Amino acid sequence: MHRRSIAIVTFGCQMNDRDSEALVGIFLDKGYILTEDIYQADVILVNTCSVRKHAEDRAISFIGSIRKIIEYRQGKNNSLRSVVGLIGCMARSRGEEIFKKMPHVNLICSSAMLYKLPEYAEEILKGDKDRIIDLEDNKREEWFYHSPFRFDKNHAYVVISTGCSNYCSYCVVPYVRGELRLRDPQDIIEEVKKNISLGIKKITLLGQNVNDYYYIYSDNYSGVRILGGEEIKDKNIFSFVDLLKELDKIDEIEEIDFITSHPKNTSRDLFYLMANSKKFKKHLHLPFQSGSDRILKLMNRGYTKDKYLSLVDDFKMIVKGTLSTDVIVGFPTETEDDFLHTKDVLEKVKFKYAYIFKYSVRQNTQSAKLEDDVSQGEKERRHRILLELQKRLSLSI
Ligand code: 5AD
Ligand code: SF4
Repeated sequence: MHRRSIAIVTFGCQMNDRDSEALVGIFLDKGYILTEDIYQADVILVNTCSVRKHAEDRAISFIGSIRKIIEYRQGKNNSLRSVVGLIGCMARSRGEEIFKKMPHVNLICSSAMLYKLPEYAEEILKGDKDRIIDLEDNKREEWFYHSPFRFDKNHAYVVISTGCSNYCSYCVVPYVRGELRLRDPQDIIEEVKKNISLGIKKITLLGQNVNDYYYIYSDNYSGVRILGGEEIKDKNIFSFVDLLKELDKIDEIEEIDFITSHPKNTSRDLFYLMANSKKFKKHLHLPFQSGSDRILKLMNRGYTKDKYLSLVDDFKMIVKGTLSTDVIVGFPTETEDDFLHTKDVLEKVKFKYAYIFKYSVRQNTQSAKLEDDVSQGEKERRHRILLELQKRLSLSI
């Protein structure tokens, strides 16, 4: 009997890596085999990223190239049906357009609905449906996270939240991955323990901004929690640091880290915990995006250059660890002076790694309303200067 096979190609971040891995797990449960040979696969899934235009362009050209594979399969045997699925961020940003323009793409599915993919693939392979598009934004079914399949037998990504409600003005994530949604701490801990039972002792927690994680135990809690604002201490609120403290109690874990931490609500409590437990990696990814207060305000980031630098000082003093960051050059209206402030932050902090990006307009975002007025040439010049600077600085760490 022909055993169905699945191939999955992933673009983008660790969140997508974990989603792809969980998906493979649920397809294996249904009797599929995993293949790297996309010419042979019955189901080809392309897990996409929308964060920057460059990422979308790469995925679109890849999806375009799959058309030849489908023609090859159909040429070989006319009855061979295949599923070509575009999933992840681009489903919501470009899905409808791609559905119209690329007839060989017969399945489009948003991040929230990934758990339905085996069912959708079955409907297409059986011929019940020709094409399916599901762009729903919803809380995911919890069981999706418990898919036990892991590509790496020593390290596991564990998602603690999906989506984001911070609305940084340049960022498409809240639109394509939906608003912030949180998993129950008990479920997260159970998933971590399941990994331990498989012999995995290194854990990376994933959230667009892990500091936004919270859980309210009591239904009659009547306070207001300001997301991304000041920390609110209430006995009913279980915070990200509380979650880390619970994980720290699990003896078998050897190493814990997490991405990403937004500077506006990264707390000193977190630093003390990182310093005081051997389990925490002494490294923090802390994107500052820009060193100019004016641009930070336009980006809706909620901190200033000085606040960022003082957070870094505290981190260095308390944790004594290394830092990495993300930077955007060429945000609308960015002047040479704004850019020099960004360069100054790189020089002062001395990051171990810095990921430097040229601004690109993302549909629906607030900054898309501003004129993209820094020329491509100027973006490239600023990008090159920071890359060269960072190369020199990272050698000294
Ligand atoms: N243009 C350029 N870079 C962006 N990023 C997010 N949105 C954009 C955009 N519109 C970068 C940020 C973020 C990283 C994941 O991608 O630096 O931290
Ligand atoms: Fe995007 Fe800002 Fe949310 Fe990060 S915190 S995912 S940059 S909106």
